[in-house]
Amino acid sequence: MIIRKFLQSDVTELSELMRKTVMKSNSKDYSKKAVQRLCDEYVPERLLKDVRRIDIFVVSEKSKLLGTISLVGNRISRMFVLPEFQGKEIGSRLIKYVEQFAKKNGITNLRVRSSLTAYGFYQKLGYQKTRRASNKFVGPIIWMKKKI
Ligand SMILES: CC(C)(COP(=O)(O)OP(=O)(O)OC[C@H]1O[C@@H](n2cnc3c(N)ncnc32)[C@H](O)[C@@H]1OP(=O)(O)O)[C@@H](O)C(=O)NCCC(=O)NCCS
Repeated sequence: MIIRKFLQSDVTELSELMRKTVMKSNSKDYSKKAVQRLCDEYVPERLLKDVRRIDIFVVSEKSKLLGTISLVGNRISRMFVLPEFQGKEIGSRLIKYVEQFAKKNGITNLRVRSSLTAYGFYQKLGYQKTRRASNKFVGPIIWMKKKI
């Protein structure tokens, strides 16, 4: 299993991974409309455009993508592990990888706009709630932070 930077050739598979995970894992906490909005955001064209301003990383095993995480400045974003591969420490590895990457780039505090779904996961990894908010695009989210 390796963690590496996203390549343009990953785009179709990455888009499917994000959309599949949102539909399966986040649909228990979010409305149909919110899930649809997120799926619309994770289309290949958008991802290719975003890569110019966002660091996107993927976990790959035997050339299959299993998960992803992005860093926008000092904010963790778009973290997904395929439903059938969740609970195998892939998410924790991604977080550790990004924390090291951020540190090397002089970042000392990370933030995340956690989904309700992933809140317990980030807590386990040392992230603390700063406030709960309502995002007009998807609904309830929880801002969290960690000193690294
Ligand atoms: C959140 C997510 C990335 C976690 O990835 P993962 O590979 O399943 O996580 P791990 O296996 O590394 O879990 C690490 C620890 O957190 C715990 N954990 C994982 N998800 C959890 C959750 N939703 N609530 C509480 N604890 C959780 C695990 O049990 C594990 O604990 P342990 O070390 O005591 O065994 C994954 O479940 C996911 O893709 N969720 C849906 C998408 C999403 O909401 N992403 C976040 C957007 S902000």
